[in-house]
Amino acid sequence: MRIFVAGATGAVGRPLVAALIAAGHSVVGTTRTAAKAAIIRRMGAEPAIADGLDAPAIRAAVLAAKPDVIIDEMTDLAGVTDLRHFDRAFATTNRLRTQGTDFLLAAAREAGVKRFIAQSFCGWTYEPIKAEADPLDLDPPEELRRTLDAIQYLEDAVTSSANLEGIVLRYGSFYGPDTGMLSRAMIEQVRRRRVPLIGGGGGMWSFIHVDDAAAATVAAIERGTSGEIYNIVDDEPAPVGEWLPALATLVGARPPIRVPAWLGRLFAGEHLVSMMTEVQASSNAKARRELGWQPAHPSWRQGFAEVVSGATAQHAA
Ligand SMILES: NC(=O)c1ccc[n+]([C@@H]2O[C@H](COP(=O)([O-])OP(=O)(O)OC[C@H]3O[C@@H](n4cnc5c(N)ncnc54)[C@H](OP(=O)(O)O)[C@@H]3O)[C@@H](O)[C@H]2O)c1
Repeated sequence: MRIFVAGATGAVGRPLVAALIAAGHSVVGTTRTAAKAAIIRRMGAEPAIADGLDAPAIRAAVLAAKPDVIIDEMTDLAGVTDLRHFDRAFATTNRLRTQGTDFLLAAAREAGVKRFIAQSFCGWTYEPIKAEADPLDLDPPEELRRTLDAIQYLEDAVTSSANLEGIVLRYGSFYGPDTGMLSRAMIEQVRRRRVPLIGGGGGMWSFIHVDDAAAATVAAIERGTSGEIYNIVDDEPAPVGEWLPALATLVGARPPIRVPAWLGRLFAGEHLVSMMTEVQASSNAKARRELGWQPAHPSWRQGFAEVVSGATAQHAA
């Protein structure tokens, strides 16, 4: 099939393009800059240069590509460090998830695209339970409200879109190559004990290796059902109180410093304390059952170890 990947150079875009090519698809991938077009070409795909917030540019790129399927992997999170002001850090990503989704969906309809698959997130968005049918958090900390609204907007627009098959993939927290989660900077922060364990560390995180996210996305082209949402996470959601000390051990650091929740609120904000202490896990049962997909990295434990040893070997070389 002919696949248009919007956001082909990102943390999931790159392994996705590689997986699509390996599966025999022909791929057009977008980037905003001519400089990154070479990355797309090297992967065996055709580059298209367009900003997702520029409606005429996106329309022209989609009409020229004539794809059967569009996959939207656009976020604008590279270089984001100030998570204290979360909604501010996510402002352009939120625009991509609202306006950008509208522009891409309109272009898709005009081009007669059959299927539209969009990236969403399930890292901290759920109320206590965690299957796709359960509601997202209706009352998030104030600092997350606009970001959650944008996620909700994207999901509604895609799954209810007329004249095409809309599917949403709620990825868990990414780790793997080109992700911030296990980047050299993050590893250094953990080594220096600058990533504290806040409160009881009871927040449940659901991780996904970016290669597994890519594989699930390829599976959704063939086997996803129109109008459905799938959680794409590994098999072992874990409390921060478990994965953060395990990561510290992996990188040869002493256990993380413990900080009481009240102090965390003061320095990091209610929303980050909530991510460390309250967020809920997500289940991948539906994706396993309906997409015929299973993660090659079923647990962050072996996935983290693999990535950290790769990064250490690379650093030493
Ligand atoms: N589920 C998750 O945990 C999750 C999800 C997303 C990102 N992240 C994290 O966020 C960090 C950055 O992610 P990333 O490396 O994927 O980079 P990113 O800056 O979020 O970019 C992702 C893709 O979107 C494209 N893009 C960005 N702004 C655009 C715009 N206005 N119009 C069109 N395309 C646009 C980028 O293309 P160009 O830059 O080539 O133009 C790139 O292909 C990583 O640490 C990643 O792990 C995590």
